[in-house]
Amino acid sequence: MGETAREYDPFSYELDEDPYPTYRWMRDRAPVYHNPRLDFYALTRFDDVHRALIDSDTYSSRYGTSLEFMDAPKDGSGLMIFMDPPEHNRYRALVSKVFTPRQIAALEPEVRRIARGYLDPLVGRDRFDVVREFTARLPMDVISALLGIPATDRRWVQEGSNAMLHRDPGSPLPRPEAFEAQKRVFAFFQEQMDERRKRPRDDLMTRLVQVDSVDEAGRTVRLTDQEIRGFLLLLATAGNETVTKFLATAYLELWRHPDQRRALAADASLIPGAVEETLRYDPPSQYQGRVALRDATLHGETIPEGAKVLLINGASGRDERKFPDPDRYDVHREIDLHLGLGYGRHLCLGASLARLESRIGIEELLHRFPDYEVSADGIERMHSSNVRGLAGLVLEPAN
Ligand code: HEM
Repeated sequence: MGETAREYDPFSYELDEDPYPTYRWMRDRAPVYHNPRLDFYALTRFDDVHRALIDSDTYSSRYGTSLEFMDAPKDGSGLMIFMDPPEHNRYRALVSKVFTPRQIAALEPEVRRIARGYLDPLVGRDRFDVVREFTARLPMDVISALLGIPATDRRWVQEGSNAMLHRDPGSPLPRPEAFEAQKRVFAFFQEQMDERRKRPRDDLMTRLVQVDSVDEAGRTVRLTDQEIRGFLLLLATAGNETVTKFLATAYLELWRHPDQRRALAADASLIPGAVEETLRYDPPSQYQGRVALRDATLHGETIPEGAKVLLINGASGRDERKFPDPDRYDVHREIDLHLGLGYGRHLCLGASLARLESRIGIEELLHRFPDYEVSADGIERMHSSNVRGLAGLVLEPAN
């Protein structure tokens, strides 16, 4: 069983089709997996990934979290996801004050309005690409609304951010013109921040320029402009692609499991459970990269200080040591904990927003299209070392 692969290569297109048999082999045969060719280690069992995510004294985020970029520390990036304590503590405490579950919950009517704005015009169409027409657009509109980016500027800011995310085949870096786009977007963010300082409004951008706290030495600390820009960039990246991919994966699984789809269409109270099950079963963020700050020994093997280590939360969700019958997709499953949104100090800061957008994205789609087919040529997989999901998914609603 599961004896299909001996090398785990996160850059392989073939692996993107279905990494789960490889993960099974790693959990069973190489729980401390080492890839000398690509120079990294990987953990795949639920308990191991869980423990490592908590242990930031051993596993550092400072070098980045994606294998292709983990050669040098990312100090000065202003991105919290690449920070260790104590820097991360101060930063996370500040942004958590403005990014609260209560504030996110208040966003529900706006998220629904945005979702309906994209889905209503699709009613009556024979087929449509749900990624291009809906899931790729929803998250950035939601973040723009939350930040208070004026509707007239949303499109170009979104295009600028997308340009920074885009990678040509075979190239790990953005296109040269993306750097120009980034400058324009940053200049625009700076203008917006300056304006909020003069004339505060009721939006996240205003709260980010105002928020302060008191450090251990009794000094008042605030976010610097560079840190705020870093946070905005992180929202536009961490909060964008993940939700886009998550929703497409959920629609695909619900097509593959029509009984479960019908159950959700008939009873929306089952949808939050479907969100958790999808995050367990096939999460958009497959691994979190770390660098070992000291030797770590587990299962009789030592990961040496300085090694790159991939904590594969995608594999942890299929560990039968934790989840019975883990390869079965089941929206009724009771899940006490999964690692699809990470865990520990870097646990997804946008978790409540991710859950809100995911729930509403499923509710609103199934409300209009309780029955649909996926066309044979309509599944287009995207390729990235740690983001897993679809670049296109063509749905054909039943009439
Ligand atoms: C289904 C959607 C999402 C998934 C699967 C997801 C997944 C994750 C994961 C696994 C991490 C941990 C990274 C690590 O440990 O290195 C993370 C962190 C983060 N996520 Fe999300 N995310 C999602 C949506 C969002 C949204 C909507 C936002 C905000 C708008 C967001 C903002 C962040 C931020 C700021 C961090 C860094 C937290 C820190 O470093 O302390 N995410 N996310």
